Amino acid sequence: KQTLRIGICGLGTVGGGTYHLLNSKKTEITRRVGMDLDIVHVATRHPAPELAKSGIRVSTNVFDVANDPEVDILVELIGGYEPALELVLLAIANGKNVVTANKALIAVHGNTIFEAARKKGVVVSYESAVAGGIPIIKALREGLAANSIQWLAGIINGTSNYILTEMGENNRDFPDVLKEAQQLGYAEADPTFDVEGIDAAHKLAILASNAFGIALQFERVFTEGISHITTGDIAYAEELGYRIKHLGITRVTELGIELRVHPTLVSEQALIANVNGVMNAVVVKGDSAGSTLYYGAGAGAEATASSVVADIIDIARAGRDETQGASIPPLAFTALRNDLKI
Ligand code: HSE
Repeated sequence: KQTLRIGICGLGTVGGGTYHLLNSKKTEITRRVGMDLDIVHVATRHPAPELAKSGIRVSTNVFDVANDPEVDILVELIGGYEPALELVLLAIANGKNVVTANKALIAVHGNTIFEAARKKGVVVSYESAVAGGIPIIKALREGLAANSIQWLAGIINGTSNYILTEMGENNRDFPDVLKEAQQLGYAEADPTFDVEGIDAAHKLAILASNAFGIALQFERVFTEGISHITTGDIAYAEELGYRIKHLGITRVTELGIELRVHPTLVSEQALIANVNGVMNAVVVKGDSAGSTLYYGAGAGAEATASSVVADIIDIARAGRDETQGASIPPLAFTALRNDLKI
């Protein structure tokens, strides 16, 4: 059986979630993919003592992972622009595939990174960079590949949506809810990115690039956050039959592609008005499929790790020696379930 050797850089919220998910699902993933996915090297600033006992190489310097000849795929989960950019470019130069959850990095430096990856013939995947556990990048690139996308709109920052929901439903104060979102592992290291709309603008640039097949243009996104919204604003909107939602919107216009992120009045009957807490939702309007809606947890360790590991599995499947004929066993249903809560 073949083995894909994984190096993880960063063991914070998403890194820790990815490490645990790969370990806890090891047997199932091996069965599904037809090869072993082994974590061989981890870089973290503060290595936990258990890690030393795991047999995995542990470094405090992320560049050690990029320079490790035994790593096939580097998983960048350190966040931020630097040293993430240098790290990813080094991994590419060393012929490694890269999986990253770093929306800031992809939105701002993605054009450079993809060009380097194309020249080197390696893959850079970033499903987890947008909308946590929702496979929205795969939906745009694969499921909707035959469509000309006309527009897409959605709630793409879990922290902002959590804050707006708690302010509206429980009349809580902004700073109090933000603190809670930080404790729950939803917020960015610098929460200004969440509450001033920068994180949503990063994600919108990435979505637009995939939806319309255009270069990343983060600098062109009109960006407004939620820091000036009060419980009074939310109550007033409610009296008029609206909810205030922080949306990212991109659409094709006669003048070009519009990119904007801002608080928006949404009719309380709209599906998206009822997306609460840390949940994200994106509506995509394609010319063949019509409107499709994607909904799920937009942040948090487990949901985001789900997308990171999906990217790793994709790369494993693409690189697998098909002659080994790994078959996907049929699902065994032991009973019909009627307890699904939909
Ligand atoms: N801070 C981000 C959010 C994390 O709240 O949506 C997920 O990208």
